[in-house]
Amino acid sequence: MPEPIIEIRDLCVDYVTDSGPVRAIDRLNLVVESGEVLGIAGESGSGKTTLAKALLRILPPPAVITGGEVIFKGRDILAMDDEELRRMRWREISMVFQSAMDALNPVISVGEQITDTLLAHDECSAEEARERAGKLLDLVGIPRDRLGSYAHQLSGGMRQRVGIAIALAMRPSVVILDEPTTALDVIVEREILERIRELQREFGFAVIFITHDLARMLQVSDRVAVFYAARLVEVGPAGELRGAPRHPYTEGLLQAFPSVKPGGREPKSIPGQPASLVNPPSGCRFHPRCERAIEICPKEEPGPTEIGPGHVAACHLAK
Ligand SMILES: Nc1ncnc2c1ncn2[C@@H]1O[C@H](COP(=O)(O)OP(=O)(O)OP(=O)(O)O)[C@@H](O)[C@H]1O
Ligand SMILES: [Mg+2]
Repeated sequence: MPEPIIEIRDLCVDYVTDSGPVRAIDRLNLVVESGEVLGIAGESGSGKTTLAKALLRILPPPAVITGGEVIFKGRDILAMDDEELRRMRWREISMVFQSAMDALNPVISVGEQITDTLLAHDECSAEEARERAGKLLDLVGIPRDRLGSYAHQLSGGMRQRVGIAIALAMRPSVVILDEPTTALDVIVEREILERIRELQREFGFAVIFITHDLARMLQVSDRVAVFYAARLVEVGPAGELRGAPRHPYTEGLLQAFPSVKPGGREPKSIPGQPASLVNPPSGCRFHPRCERAIEICPKEEPGPTEIGPGHVAACHLAK
């Protein structure tokens, strides 16, 4: 049986705005298993980045974690003090940011940025740190002689690889990748995702892989969780979600991307606009856009229904 490495229980995150709190993560229950690739999918604004930053406790105001627990190796991250957080971040859980390509410091060489990370968290000498920085560049497929390069001397794909090298530097047990490849062309994207998958198999860390591209995610993930308007609507093995999605929103997301098979069907977009978080629809939040909504859908919020082993959907039609 896979062991959970992170257990998220009833997590709630609000953004406190002038017009009142906006709940961006609503009563989330989700497990990340050791060594798995867990994909997180959902339209723009569904709460993916908020979740990632909540796990590391790096959410800036006006975000407030208003409830729940995030259990990592038996400890609640939400109850950790500053010293425990310092030891957990990067060493145990690291993140490649959505804008990682632009997140590098322009006036410090990439080698120094990697060694700085190592020296800040580890008890190794400057010489060891430099040697390890070279190995990290090798790992992500950048020649070592680029240690002295500055961000502007590297291509977008290379900068993104450096971001991944920095995230892997401390050998964490969980790496969060927030849209790591969206700004790259498809060939570079595929290369980087394949490299991450190889490294993940070699080192055994878990990956939380965030993207709005469900089709791409299904190719690289073991399990996938789908969010709609701050709520988890479906989670299950990637193969099952691809072949037999049980939430109409998951189905809609799948159809919204061109088929990966040559000569496949035309993409079809989900009708309507993403739900407002300020005033979310009653009952099932997806019901105004759902072609299969029935009488109960606007009235009652569907609870999670287990459809098969490890496959759960929150839909009144899922039985
Ligand atoms: N600084 C902020 N102030 C107020 N509300 C915010 C703020 N940042 C995010 N939100 C709210 O939280 C919701 C979730 O935002 P988040 O960035 O987590 O979405 P996302 O799923 O990562 O989207 P994307 O795919 O565009 O990156 C947004 O819809 C927005 O309503
Ligand atoms: Mg985001």
